[in-house]
Amino acid sequence: MANVKKIGVLTGGGDCPGLNPVIRAVVRKAMASGIEVVGIRNGWKGLVNADTIPLDLGSVSGIVHRGGTILGTSRTNPYKDPKQVAAVKANIAALKLDALVAIGGEDTLGVATKLAKEGLPVVGVPKTIDNDLCETDYTFGFDTATNIAMEAIDRLHSTAESHHRILVAEVMGRHAGWIALYAGMAGGADYILIPEKPILIDEVCAAIKKRHSRAKTFSIIVVAEGAEFAKGDTVNLDQKLDEFGHVRLGGIGDRLAKAIEERTGYETRVSVFGHIQRGGSPTAFDRVLGTRFGVKAVELVMAGQWGKMVSLKGTDIVAVPIELATKQLKLVNEEFYEVAKVFFG
Ligand code: F6P
Repeated sequence: MANVKKIGVLTGGGDCPGLNPVIRAVVRKAMASGIEVVGIRNGWKGLVNADTIPLDLGSVSGIVHRGGTILGTSRTNPYKDPKQVAAVKANIAALKLDALVAIGGEDTLGVATKLAKEGLPVVGVPKTIDNDLCETDYTFGFDTATNIAMEAIDRLHSTAESHHRILVAEVMGRHAGWIALYAGMAGGADYILIPEKPILIDEVCAAIKKRHSRAKTFSIIVVAEGAEFAKGDTVNLDQKLDEFGHVRLGGIGDRLAKAIEERTGYETRVSVFGHIQRGGSPTAFDRVLGTRFGVKAVELVMAGQWGKMVSLKGTDIVAVPIELATKQLKLVNEEFYEVAKVFFG
């Protein structure tokens, strides 16, 4: 058992439903074990600047159902500047933190991995609506995002049918098509396009025409924001990069709609679901997963399991090395996509 009196907790990267249940669980479990908790504001930025808030039972009361993160978040990468890494280390010491719980996706956990390798007492909690982290069956936020997207696709059906239109739904998913696949399959999409597979426009149009030949005068096409017509040809909102080198994706829906309309002659419109997928209340699944992750993270801290991340394997919450989770991404596999394809066209 590690001698832990005080822990810090931070949330980094894009927000996602389920973060507050994790923070609440960390605080509740830690306090029940006699450990003090400090909230670090806005991800790694708060450790660079020593921007903190004390957390107690009152601060986490009534937040289990709230989306977003009460701690705020940012895409700060301290490893871009050695001075920032030094500040992070100095502030962990100055704040007398015996451990740090870092809740985040590939970027935040990448920083956590590096800090743990440098000997700092860090434990990770995986988060992303994209569900693309390895070493965990699911990340919280994904279920909520998928359900929001599914409900939106349900709504597209009636308007598409009334107007005899093709409706393209652009969903999130930078590298992996999990949201597109789940929301599309659940919402009865007529084609699903994901970053793992090049967009074969002739096949998409053939599927739409096949439906028309069955007197189906509307179609719903779901496309992940990271899907490409050709390798490396992502559609971006602009050329700006964040601190981890990512561009802001957006616009593939428009490009796809134009291509479909040109080739089929059918009126094609786009609906970009965007940040709505990340906002609002988490589903019961995400609340419970976040809660189990938070409690387990404190157990790992108490056991001195530095460099480990909590993970869902089957129905169990287990510990895995953080670095394994960020080594490669969990992409949609062929077998799963083949099931979705049965319903194309
Ligand atoms: O990583 C999750 C994610 O939702 C991606 O799918 C998306 O590209 C990105 O975040 C967008 O984040 P933001 O708009 O906050 O920069």
